Amino acid sequence: MVIASLLLTVATAQAAANVEPGKQLFNGMCARCHGIDGTGDEGPSLNRPTLSRAATEEALREVIRDGIPDRGMPRVRRLTTNELNQLVAYVRSLGRVTATRSPRPRSRKKSAGC
Ligand code: HEC
Repeated sequence: MVIASLLLTVATAQAAANVEPGKQLFNGMCARCHGIDGTGDEGPSLNRPTLSRAATEEALREVIRDGIPDRGMPRVRRLTTNELNQLVAYVRSLGRVTATRSPRPRSRKKSAGC
C-alpha cells in the first residue's frame, strides 16, 4: 500500500512536468473540437474522470495516436512519444477537476469533421 502510493506519487510528479507543454499542444491541435480546457465543443468534453473510449492510459494513447476515424476524431498528426506523453498527461489532468459541463457532447451526430 505504501509502495503503491509512493509509486503513484512518482508517476504523478512525472506527469505533472508534462502537463504544461501538453496544454500547448492540446490548444493547438485538439481545442477546436474539444474546447479550451477540454470543456467540449464539437467533440465531447474531456474534463471528466472517466473517458469511455480512453479508460486506460494505453487506450488514451491509442485514441490520441490513431484518432477514432469513423466517429469524427481525426488522427491529428504524427506525434513524437514525448508529445504523446504530454498530451496524455494533460488530458488526464483535465479529468482531475470537476466537470463543468454535461459529459455528453452537444450532439452525438456523426460529425463531418472540422
Ligand atoms: C476534428 C475534431 C477533433 C479533433 C481535432 C480532435 N478530436 Fe478528439 N474526439 C472528437 C470526436 C468527435 C470524438 C468522439 C468520438 C466518439 O463519438 O466516440 C473524440 C473523442 C476523443 C476522446 C475520447 C473521449 C471519450 O469520451 O472517451 C479523446 C480522449 C480525445 N478525443 C482526445 C483528443 C485529443 C488529445 C486531440 C488532439 C490531439 C483530439 N482529440 C483532437 C473530435 C476531435
